[in-house]
Order: sequence, then C-alpha cells, then structure tokens
Amino acid sequence: MPRRSSAREINADRLWSRLSELSGIGRSEGDGVTRLSFTEEERAAKDLVTSYMREAGLEVREDAAGNLIGRREGRVEGAPVVLAGSHVDSVRNGGDFDGPLGVLGSVEALQIMGERGVETERPIEVVTFTDEEGARFSFGMIGSRAMVGTLAREDLVKVDKDGVSVAGAMRDSGLDPERVGEAARPEDSVYAYVELHIEQGKILEDSNLPVGVVTGIAGPVWLRFILTGEAAHAGTTPMRLRHDALAAAAAVIGRIEKEAGRTGTSVGTVGQLDLEPGGINIIPGRVSFSLDLRDIDEEVRDRVEARIAAEVARLCEERGIALETETLQRLPPVPCSDLVRGAAGAACEALGFGPFELASGAGHDGMQLAGLCPIGMIFVRSKNGLSHNPDEWSSKEDCAVGVEVLYRTLIELAREL
Ligand code: GLV
Ligand code: MN
Ligand code: MN
Repeated sequence: MPRRSSAREINADRLWSRLSELSGIGRSEGDGVTRLSFTEEERAAKDLVTSYMREAGLEVREDAAGNLIGRREGRVEGAPVVLAGSHVDSVRNGGDFDGPLGVLGSVEALQIMGERGVETERPIEVVTFTDEEGARFSFGMIGSRAMVGTLAREDLVKVDKDGVSVAGAMRDSGLDPERVGEAARPEDSVYAYVELHIEQGKILEDSNLPVGVVTGIAGPVWLRFILTGEAAHAGTTPMRLRHDALAAAAAVIGRIEKEAGRTGTSVGTVGQLDLEPGGINIIPGRVSFSLDLRDIDEEVRDRVEARIAAEVARLCEERGIALETETLQRLPPVPCSDLVRGAAGAACEALGFGPFELASGAGHDGMQLAGLCPIGMIFVRSKNGLSHNPDEWSSKEDCAVGVEVLYRTLIELAREL
C-alpha cells in the first residue's frame, strides 16, 4: 500500500471556517440546524454559498428550480460539464455536515484549481441542489428532479404541514413554478456527477478509514398510513368494544420492526406520528404515521413492503379500523458508475487510503442525476455513525482528506475529453 500522503493541496482552514459559518444559519440555541426548502434559512445559506463561489472565481447563477450553480470553464467550448455538489437544506434539528460538506468541499476544490492554475478540458459546475432532504414536503430531491426533467406537475401541488404547496413555496421565494421545466438539462450535456458526503453510518469508522468510495445508493419507499377507528370515552367504553386507532398503530409498528429486521439488510422507520383528537380521556379515533423503508436490493425491499402491507391490513381488519395508504416517494436503488468509482478509487489510492468501497444507506441527489449521467460518491467518516442529529460530526482532517479526494477525482473526470 502506498504511504499515506499528508501533503494536501486543498486549504483545510478555509474549508473548516466556511463550514462553521454556514452551520450558524438556521441554528436554534443549544440545538441543531433547521433549514427547510424555500425558507429564509435556505435562502440565507444559498446567499452565503454564493459569496464563497464568487471568492472561488466561479460564474454564479440560479436555475428555474432555485438550484445554485457555480461554474468554472474548461478549455473546450460546449463540452459536457462535470457536476459536483450537494445541498444546504436540512432535516429538522439536523447536523452541520449533511449537505454542506459536499457543497463547500466542491467550492474549495474549484477554488484550489483556480489558485493553482489547473486547466481542464471540460467545464466543472458546483451545484447546491434545492430540497434534497424532503423534510418539508415529504418527498425530496426537488432540485435534482427538476434538473433531470422529472419533477412532475403532481409534485408541485404536494403540500407541507401548513398546507403550502411546492408551487406556492416557490412563488413565495421568487421562483415561477410554471417555468421549472427550464431547469432540465439536455441529454448529453452532463458528463458525470460526483458528490462528496459524510457517510452517516459507522462502516468507515469501524474500518479506521477517513474516506471511502460508494458502490450504490439504497432505494427508499416513503408511505403514510392513515388509520381511522372511533374516538370514544376512555372511562366508559369497555376494552372489547373499542376501535382504538393508536393501539392498532402500535401493533403495526411492532410488525414493521420485525419484518424489516428479518432480512438483515432492510431498514424500516416510523418517524412521524399524529393522533386525533389527542385527549387524555379520549380513545384515539385517527392516527396517521409514516414509514421509511429501504434496502440496497429492490426485490428484498419490495418483499418486506408487501409483508408489511398484508400485516397492516390484517391488524386493522381484526380491530375494525379503516385503513388508507398513501405513497409519498418510491425510488429504486441506484448503482454508482464505474467511471466515477474508478476516478475516486484512484484518488483514494494515490493518497494511501484504500480504495475502500461501501454502499450508501441514505438517499442523495445522485439518485435523480443517474437519469442524466454516470454518478458516483465519496464518503467521509462520521463520528459514531451519527447523522440527522445535532451531534453529527466529521473531523477537520477527515473532511480535508475527502475534499482532497474530490479535487483529484474532478480533475481526472474533467482533464480530457
Ligand atoms: C436523506 O438524507 C435521506 O436519505 O432521507
Ligand atoms: Mn445529504
Ligand atoms: Mn440527509
């Protein structure tokens, strides 16, 4: 194995200070960050990134979906572009690295290319995608869907918990939803997409490695179950006469845990639950809850989903509960391309780290971009594997190694036609 190189081309202090500055936007005291899409917080984060893109000498624009783009020209006019990037929206009460590392790491890589006079044949663009997380509208990757041309009319009418639609939120933030189609990139205009991201799991930490190359991204299905029973008096209704929607939901959630756990690879999570009417002395009449179910193997995931669906139907019927099921998002797992895996693997090897390959359990914009071009990802070690949590953490040194790998990967992808 080559010796681990400590010579870094990138400016780790600048990267770290930008990460710190960005992490102040949308932070509540003593808490994590909340930057939902099309909000003032996401806008402020994009404005800060715009200023960094300008410092990096990039030509900055925003497309019709609000994707923020910084471009560095290549030598060959009209050559397909190499895209790098991530997002600055966050989940509610999230961490500082999920998204920002990929955006600011890409800006850093391009800034260093400028400072060192590195020339490439292909242009390179850093993209800050609009709403990757899906935390506001219960489906994500809005900007990357628009860039691939698959953001549908039905997507624009989906609403957040206050009843504001995607189209309404776009209008409120100065975008015209009627023109979102203009964000779509023509076929053959993009050569490859590469995203630097924290791992959000423990595999790199357990392997004692700062970086890894991603083989593929697990496919999520997001569902909402609505269980309607009968609200009634908690003191006067005998147990045998109840149609308790929450008791039914509890039984279902237990089954979900069991079914997802059986495969060893699938993961199933109920992260949202609302109940009505919500009185201490009232039997719950209506409960709605989400399911996030994923696997790197689509067939396995779909088999688990079918078993869960059968169990939900059975348990509801037994208890006299009416059931509705809504599908919020369904994505197939996406393999990473040999092109990007090869370039990122060679960069890791040159630095003396692996290459070590691993799959992504989390979803990423690359899942959409795969409809347009070869994609790939580079992962940076996460402390304790924690993410979507205010304690999410990757060290300055590990982030710097990740950006170094990204820098070399981008040069390799853009160097020649
Ligand atoms: C985004 O982080 C997701 O995987 O849900
Ligand atoms: Mn992310
Ligand atoms: Mn995330």
